[in-house]
Amino acid sequence: MSQFDLTGRKALVTGGAQNLGAAIAKALADAGASVAIGDLKDDVGEATAASLRDSGATAAFVHLDVTDEASWNAAIPQVVEKLGGLDILVNNAGIEVTSLLADLDPDALRTMFDVNVVGTSLGIKNAFNAMKPGGIAGAGGAVVNIASVAALIAFPALSGYSGSKSAVDRITRIAAAESGALGYGVRVNCIYPGLIANEMGLKLATDVVEIGLFPDVETAVGGVVGLTPLGHLGEQQDMANAVVFLSSDAASFITGTGLAVDGGMGS
Ligand SMILES: NC(=O)c1ccc[n+]([C@@H]2O[C@H](COP(=O)([O-])OP(=O)(O)OC[C@H]3O[C@@H](n4cnc5c(N)ncnc54)[C@H](O)[C@@H]3O)[C@@H](O)[C@H]2O)c1
Repeated sequence: MSQFDLTGRKALVTGGAQNLGAAIAKALADAGASVAIGDLKDDVGEATAASLRDSGATAAFVHLDVTDEASWNAAIPQVVEKLGGLDILVNNAGIEVTSLLADLDPDALRTMFDVNVVGTSLGIKNAFNAMKPGGIAGAGGAVVNIASVAALIAFPALSGYSGSKSAVDRITRIAAAESGALGYGVRVNCIYPGLIANEMGLKLATDVVEIGLFPDVETAVGGVVGLTPLGHLGEQQDMANAVVFLSSDAASFITGTGLAVDGGMGS
């Protein structure tokens, strides 16, 4: 069997209702995993889980607000019951607020940190407690956090987002150290996706035009491509493939690190 095969593994993807999270859920299912989607968007998430089931996968939806401890406490037992365990958590839920420091809205900044930093941290907490010896899943596993190339570069108007994703980067390394020191049996890594031409990525491009940093969206996207050695934007599937790798036994000696999936932009 391929080291990349995930047959028998049970995965939860936060923010998995749409876009990158849905692509990650599909890639994990294609690799053989049973998948639960956790998201605020019940209708969209249910539909995404149904489409995975239509393609032959075992898939379920659970309502989850990653910022809310009580929501995690309700969701994790549901996932373990629906899938029969939990071996993989992908902390994908995230939001992006574009703003110059001079115009910063503190409430928007706090909300973004709540989702991106507190949400990811609560995900790790709940994964550790479920997966470690004696936990309700109890068989160890892998956590993959979705950071961003914004954690690696200095792009105007991304201070808050970059700060939140840099926090995800550091939290990943400390989580791996704690898991190792305390014998949880959970590997923890992150990926740094480059800009994707999906809703969030295109909104960012529109925002930087509105802020006055670029004359139009085409030039803004061209600016990002110009900073990318491979010369084009990445696709959601490129990011999802890296998550499958880090979740699999092919990455069994990899923990506490980050994998840039950015065409070389952050190098
Ligand atoms: N799109 C890009 O260019 C890009 C680049 C680098 C990194 N990322 C990261 O990838 C991840 C996914 O981004 P996307 O482009 O699919 O964005 P998206 O906005 O399409 O998807 C985010 C998902 O997270 C969910 N979500 C938001 N807050 C939540 C909460 N509190 N609890 C549970 N779910 C919540 C949303 O409902 C949505 O389904 C994010 O962490 C984002 O920061 C995106």
